[in-house]
Amino acid sequence: MNNSIFNRSVVYTTKKMKQIVITKNGSYDVLKVKESADPVTGEGQIKIQVKAAGLNFAEIMARQGLYPDAPPLPCVVGYEAAGIVTEVGQGVDSVKVGDRVIALSKFGAHSDTMIIPHYMAVPMPEHMSFAEGASIPVNFITAYHMLFKVARVQPGDSVLIHMAAGGVGVAAIQLCKTIKNVTVYGTASASKHDFIRELGCHHPIDYNTKDYVKEIYEINKDLPEGRRGIDIILDPLGDSKKSYSLLNPAVGRLVTFGASNFLSGSTRSIFNIASFSPLSLMSDNKMVAGVNIGHMFQPESLLHMLQEEMKDIMQLWVDGKVKAIVSKEFTFDDAGEAHRYMEERKNIGKIILVPTTADLTPTSSQ
Ligand SMILES: NC(=O)c1ccc[n+]([C@@H]2O[C@H](COP(=O)([O-])OP(=O)(O)OC[C@H]3O[C@@H](n4cnc5c(N)ncnc54)[C@H](OP(=O)(O)O)[C@@H]3O)[C@@H](O)[C@H]2O)c1
Repeated sequence: MNNSIFNRSVVYTTKKMKQIVITKNGSYDVLKVKESADPVTGEGQIKIQVKAAGLNFAEIMARQGLYPDAPPLPCVVGYEAAGIVTEVGQGVDSVKVGDRVIALSKFGAHSDTMIIPHYMAVPMPEHMSFAEGASIPVNFITAYHMLFKVARVQPGDSVLIHMAAGGVGVAAIQLCKTIKNVTVYGTASASKHDFIRELGCHHPIDYNTKDYVKEIYEINKDLPEGRRGIDIILDPLGDSKKSYSLLNPAVGRLVTFGASNFLSGSTRSIFNIASFSPLSLMSDNKMVAGVNIGHMFQPESLLHMLQEEMKDIMQLWVDGKVKAIVSKEFTFDDAGEAHRYMEERKNIGKIILVPTTADLTPTSSQ
């Protein structure tokens, strides 16, 4: 069983670890908790006892067979976890046994034990709970990278965040708030509007009942011509035709980072995806970029960029400028229910998977 792409030198012992295995593509019942030989920590690696792991939309797609990056079946997915270091390999001095850490991994995090290269872990701030810790890496790094490294959000910008009440969405709203005078528009179901408004979304839009393009032009109708659209759009839907049409000329930048609409019947269509030519971009004075954090785990220089971003995010958390938003916790045994909860769009923020025996106390004295 694949625990991580970094497991080239992993040795297995007779001790058993528990993992959520996607046994085949299909509905929630294809997820089974299985035991596997416990891996031995190799040189430069650390072993973590996982206390909480994050569930991402990509993992729903992996279960359904719609995620091209998923490992071969049967597989253990999971990009992120928080836990305690239980072993360090030779040559590791960045962390020690007993440290509470947040870990990134290209797969294998939906497991009660993980082996990762030591540099894939960052220390958890004191008072942060394991569930909070596991909810941060993917959502916040994705939002941070898109806003600060790619779109380079500036004071005074307007930003449209699709799936604004999801994990990445709530991270992006909070990060926008750290820059002066950024106006945030967010698409989300009406029941989630109060929550995202409170978080910093100035204009929540119910995409189920309203056309967000028309709605935004209506909200901005008193602004000067050329400013009635949006400066930055974060699109995880695969709705790039509409999003592109909304960009303000001269400054508009669209960041595409997902294709969630492909999972849902009425909006599932490749016709919503735009194709861009350099000539049309030039004529329209618009910018388009793509982000896939999962493709930044190699080479190591890109990974180090993610690490640096993670450190900045931790500092924002410590300074009280952002908070981790945990929607609901499910035990490994209820992983199917966790997938269902996300697919039925019930979550606001992050869904967390907890190994059955894990203790989630937020103290640092474990
Ligand atoms: N490229 C990358 O590096 C990267 C990294 C992380 C995530 N992503 C992508 O970012 C997106 C958000 O991920 P996430 O983990 O934040 O999601 P999430 O927490 O699962 O967000 C789910 C929420 O999105 C809303 N939603 C809107 N349209 C939807 C649709 N067609 N299908 C399902 N839900 C829909 C629902 O809320 P409402 O009820 O309010 O609509 C739902 O509760 C996904 O497309 C994911 O693949 C990409």
